[in-house]
Amino acid sequence: MMYRRMQESDIEKVIPFYIEYYNARGDEWTEESVRHRIWQVLGSPDSYCLMAEDGENVIGFAMGRFERFYDLTAYNLVEIIIGEPFQNRGLGTALMQELERQVKEEGAALVQLMAVNDDAHNRFYGRLNYQDTTNLVLKGKFL
Ligand SMILES: CC(C)(COP(=O)(O)OP(=O)(O)OC[C@H]1O[C@@H](n2cnc3c(N)ncnc32)[C@H](O)[C@@H]1OP(=O)(O)O)[C@@H](O)C(=O)NCCC(=O)NCCS
Repeated sequence: MMYRRMQESDIEKVIPFYIEYYNARGDEWTEESVRHRIWQVLGSPDSYCLMAEDGENVIGFAMGRFERFYDLTAYNLVEIIIGEPFQNRGLGTALMQELERQVKEEGAALVQLMAVNDDAHNRFYGRLNYQDTTNLVLKGKFL
């Protein structure tokens, strides 16, 4: 697997990954809404996004951005997707490990993310040693 920084021109290549996965689970993403979502991350000042490729084939991608705190810089992972045909072969784990290596080199001391709270995601992130936070809880309010 080869890894490289995502460019604006890669957005079109990863849109189908997003739509295939999430729309199969009841979402109604369109090319336009996915393009917008990815650009909100990729186009922001401290973004760091990786493409995972096997030759010409895109296998998956991960996107996120650095966030500065007074005492450290964190990397907030916003999304990671491995294409459905390539899942469960260790490639998502390998992409996470490569991303961790690279963002650490760029100065991040911590990777944080919000995950779907189900067994599969808990196993995936748990094996990579991600812990559930005890001091923070996600709060939301529909307007
Ligand atoms: C989660 C994901 C990145 C893992 O990549 P992967 O290459 O399949 O993972 P690996 O082969 O390294 O590890 C396998 C583990 O991933 C998890 N996993 C595999 N397919 C999954 C899926 N469709 N959804 C959620 N988790 C999945 C499971 O924990 C699995 O371990 P298990 O055998 O104990 O069930 C990938 O499955 C994916 O893109 N899922 C859809 C999008 C998504 O859920 N992204 C994360 C948002 S928080």
